[in-house]
Amino acid sequence: MAFTVAIDGPAAAGKGTLSKALAAHLGFAHLDTGLLYRAVGAKLLLGVEPLEAAETLTAEDLAADNLRTAEVADAASKVAVIPEVRAALVDFQRAFARRDGGAVLDGRDIGTVICPEAEAKLFVTASPEVRAERRWLELRARDPKVAFDAVLADVRERDERDMNRASAPLKPAEDAVMLDTSDLGIEAALKAAIEIVEARMQAL
Ligand code: DC
Repeated sequence: MAFTVAIDGPAAAGKGTLSKALAAHLGFAHLDTGLLYRAVGAKLLLGVEPLEAAETLTAEDLAADNLRTAEVADAASKVAVIPEVRAALVDFQRAFARRDGGAVLDGRDIGTVICPEAEAKLFVTASPEVRAERRWLELRARDPKVAFDAVLADVRERDERDMNRASAPLKPAEDAVMLDTSDLGIEAALKAAIEIVEARMQAL
């Protein structure tokens, strides 16, 4: 049986952690679709043409260890505005979403473009300041010199680009349930997400 949980939202809203924990709780497979764009962005930084990179993406590319850096995130956000790049990544995401046993996909356009028919849709948000603080704490563990203001500026710039691009902009699906994690820890956010998905399961 297929059951798709679509989780969308802006950078650093807690989608990744939440999606992983939710998938584990439900026994579903999990795909962080941002990784696909990050892997294409990483290839771009190596001089590969973005469309070629998207069409030839391998499991190895998805496991590269620089995908979480700020430089790659920025390149990912740039390649994500190219409609042909997005189109090249659609089939893989849809097949993953409809796999037997259930799937959680997190990204920006899962509930709107990739899986408009998803059985459950969540839009996870948090204020820019809260998101920047979470990202800053993460980045600081690797580089103590990272300034909070720079991270906040980065979060705002990426939001702006993700929300205003012509192709599949970041926006909640009309039938998505909004989940604001500004004042929620991971346990509380997970509990809320489980309740939303279980209500959808019972409604089917
Ligand atoms: O979620 P993330 O920070 O790993 O995403 C990296 C970039 O990829 C982000 O700027 C937006 C883009 N992205 C997208 O356009 N569509 C998705 N489904 C996932 C990510």
